[in-house]
Amino acid sequence: KKTAPMPDDIRARKGGVPLVSLTAYTTPMAQVMDPHCDFVLVGDSVGMVLHGLPSTLGVTMEMMILHGQAVARGLNRAMMVVDMPFGSYEESPQQAFRNAARIMAQTGAGAVKLEGGVTMAETIGFLVKRGVPVMAHVGLTPQSINTLGGYKVQGRGAAAAALMADARAVADAGAFAVVLEKVPASLADTVTAAVPIPTIGIGASAGCDGQILVVDDMLGLFTAFKAKFVKRYATLGADAGSAVAAYAEDVRARRFPGPEHVFGDAAPEGKA
Ligand code: KIV
Ligand code: NA
Repeated sequence: KKTAPMPDDIRARKGGVPLVSLTAYTTPMAQVMDPHCDFVLVGDSVGMVLHGLPSTLGVTMEMMILHGQAVARGLNRAMMVVDMPFGSYEESPQQAFRNAARIMAQTGAGAVKLEGGVTMAETIGFLVKRGVPVMAHVGLTPQSINTLGGYKVQGRGAAAAALMADARAVADAGAFAVVLEKVPASLADTVTAAVPIPTIGIGASAGCDGQILVVDDMLGLFTAFKAKFVKRYATLGADAGSAVAAYAEDVRARRFPGPEHVFGDAAPEGKA
């Protein structure tokens, strides 16, 4: 087993070949992306794409740990980052450390990710000084959907300065990378030039130091809606629908199971 990159290796990729990442929630999908990704995020998007929740607010520590354990079993070389769910870190640096330590101890994650800029800088510093590498997440932060007033583009116009302050604050606090979600491309480029840590874009800019997408979005498995920033590389949801329809027809027509799927009375030579 090759050693996974450490947060410092990810940090050192600033300005280099773009970092490749996707979300994963299960062992088989982690196995599929392990050869291609620098890191894999067990995102709290799991609540929406796998559990049918209306937002990420209902995601629990137990869900993140269960999916983190599943993903860890599928990774050989990519680093695993696990999202801290809503309500597990905002109250105090101490609460954040207690839950981050539990996630790392129980999943083997190399780092955690949490949402927030200036507001979370103190907490990020507290975690990093105590052995918890932190990936930050600024711009559109879905756990704050009720105060942001919708999944709107962040940092436009006069709000650009606050977004820049958020990115600088998490970098100063010791985050090893920062996700920029749904911000104007020009602002993402300006932030990328301004901060010393890799920016990971989602709905940001090709000029970011890396990119991330929700895997179910890019594979066409999650089709409840499609954000503008999602590029669909496959249509697995539609493919699964066709496969199930073909199976249903076969069963009703008694075409399945076929002769090759059923057992004879006698065991084949040499087999019990
Ligand atoms: O939960 C998630 O999938 C994320 C990524 C989109 C960055 O936070
Ligand atoms: Na998330």
